[in-house]
Amino acid sequence: MCGIVAYVGNRRVAPLLIEGLKRLEYRGYDSAGLAVVNGDGIQVMRSVGRVSVLEQQLAEHGIDDGNGHFAGTLGIAHTRWATHGAPTEVNAHPHTGRTACGHTLAVVHNGIIENYAALRTYLQGQGHEFTSETDTEVLSKLIAQLYEGDLKAAVQAALREVSGAYAIAAICGNEPHTVICARKGSPLIIGIGDRSYIVASDASAIVAHTTQVITLDDYQVARLCAGPVDKKDPVGGPWAEEFQTTTIDNIPVSQQVRALEFDLQKIELGGYSHYMLKEIMEQPDALRNCLRGRLDPRENRVVLGGLDRFTRELVRAKRYVFTAQGTAFHAGLIGQYLIEDMAKIPARCEYASEFRYRNPIIEDDTVIVAVSQSGETADTLAALAEAKDRGALALGVVNVVGSSIARETDVGTYLHVGPEIGVASTKAFVGQVAVMTLMALFLGKRRYMSAQLVSDYLAELEQIPRHIARVLEQSDHIRTCVDRYVDRDNWLFLGRWYNYPVALEGALKLKEISYIHAEGMPAAEMKHGPIALIDEGMPVVFVATRGSQYDKVMSNIEEVRARGGRVIAVATEGDTDISRYADSVFEIPPVSDALAPLLTVIPLQLVAYHAAVLRGLDVDKPRNLAKSVTVE
Ligand code: AGP
Ligand code: GLU
Repeated sequence: MCGIVAYVGNRRVAPLLIEGLKRLEYRGYDSAGLAVVNGDGIQVMRSVGRVSVLEQQLAEHGIDDGNGHFAGTLGIAHTRWATHGAPTEVNAHPHTGRTACGHTLAVVHNGIIENYAALRTYLQGQGHEFTSETDTEVLSKLIAQLYEGDLKAAVQAALREVSGAYAIAAICGNEPHTVICARKGSPLIIGIGDRSYIVASDASAIVAHTTQVITLDDYQVARLCAGPVDKKDPVGGPWAEEFQTTTIDNIPVSQQVRALEFDLQKIELGGYSHYMLKEIMEQPDALRNCLRGRLDPRENRVVLGGLDRFTRELVRAKRYVFTAQGTAFHAGLIGQYLIEDMAKIPARCEYASEFRYRNPIIEDDTVIVAVSQSGETADTLAALAEAKDRGALALGVVNVVGSSIARETDVGTYLHVGPEIGVASTKAFVGQVAVMTLMALFLGKRRYMSAQLVSDYLAELEQIPRHIARVLEQSDHIRTCVDRYVDRDNWLFLGRWYNYPVALEGALKLKEISYIHAEGMPAAEMKHGPIALIDEGMPVVFVATRGSQYDKVMSNIEEVRARGGRVIAVATEGDTDISRYADSVFEIPPVSDALAPLLTVIPLQLVAYHAAVLRGLDVDKPRNLAKSVTVE
């Protein structure tokens, strides 16, 4: 979703804001803008398209011509992913408001103000004129309406009136060393720098300045001040810095400063041509990091410290409900199979967007498992809250430390696969599946799994990173195969049991970065209609590893071949039978059914990646997509 950057301190703010927005580009956006306090006024610039367009516009307006354009040391900036109003310059943020005493203020916002229409009517009645179609402009005008000389108080008062989700930063020409920020339901982090503060939607825009951060909680407001005590002696004179956090009701809250785990080089490309390829190729290490300290073969157990406080409740639970969207949903579907297979506890996986609105039945002793890379997906966050309200114990499977979903759960396990920059999720999927495998073993050992079976799975899990590296060696072979089919507009992905969610994930990966239409389904389901789609040359991908469903899948492969389909198979090394039926074969080392998804997904990630590159598309920023969907 969109990105927010704000800065107050001792350096010229405009270049810092542009650099920060560029760090956040991967989140997905359609327009950008910034506002700088200059003298006692505010200068605003906005543009449609890439941040580089905004940067170019600033240069054309003489940002460095010494005439004071955008010369201030306090500013806010924004990359917008439109929810209310088309992606146009007039709808781009920042949005402004004029206070009764004639000062201008500016606001940037991530989220949705749900009661904006009623507020807009009220504000128009108070004489405010609106220029945009956005909900955010209502917020900027409301703050201006409530401003009586104290920006923090005006922001608090306005936020008490709005409903919806927000992360905001606000500045006012009348308070040249102060930025106010606040959040509810959208992410915001505050970096504590040297004689400065920087605020951003995530750590990637902060880590170049500082690693000392605080994360605002919902309904919290921060007032950040940094500037010369004496306006007449802005450089040599005394310097004042202050930050305070309160609730929107102005109740002081204490904040714990933490050190960012995030460092810049991790988000650099590291020699790869795309973040997505980097993140596919680093999966062996990412999985090692994910498993680190969590497998204890000597004691024949899984160590998940984050679950300790609720072990009894988790072991005795009567049902597990996984909830997520997109790739995380596919991982959650595998989690459903794992919990039933290993822990023998009833489980189901639901789309969060469906779950939250259908008045779901939550029986006693239910555990809701929110699966999310970003920890900020609006529907998943809302489904989690819905289940908690109905008495469920909330468990999180999340990658981003300190994210909203992570903070909303009672217990949880972080993926620890590192920042995932590519919009198409790859290593996070493998991390999610691995963590849920660990959880299922954690529970299974405390329920009916034999010690021998636990031991066998632990030994197998330890080998998975090495096996993934083996599969990745086929990347060139996969690209050669994909090149034969890359002009085909419709693909099918088929699998059974644990490999059915992998088929769904393979189809999603291909769709979202190569724009080729693809559909995943249970292999047996093909005969109930979709087989009508199969014509001469249609690519059909089978996840056909040696396992309990192998013979059934082989029958499905023959049905496809009989109709001229081109069969692409993910198969077990040494399977000489399948090569008689498949046009292309991608091999994985032998693995048990339950751990197969950790390997069978790898070739499908590479299929999607190579298809997108062969089609000349923007792999890391696919059209229309955002890395984290923080609006409904
Ligand atoms: C994954 O490739 C997609 N970009 C998307 O489906 C994503 O998985 C989904 O939006 C959920 O995001 P989350 O894991 O951050 O909650
Ligand atoms: N709802 C606001 C708008 O449409 C903010 C969208 C965003 O999060 O970027 O402008």
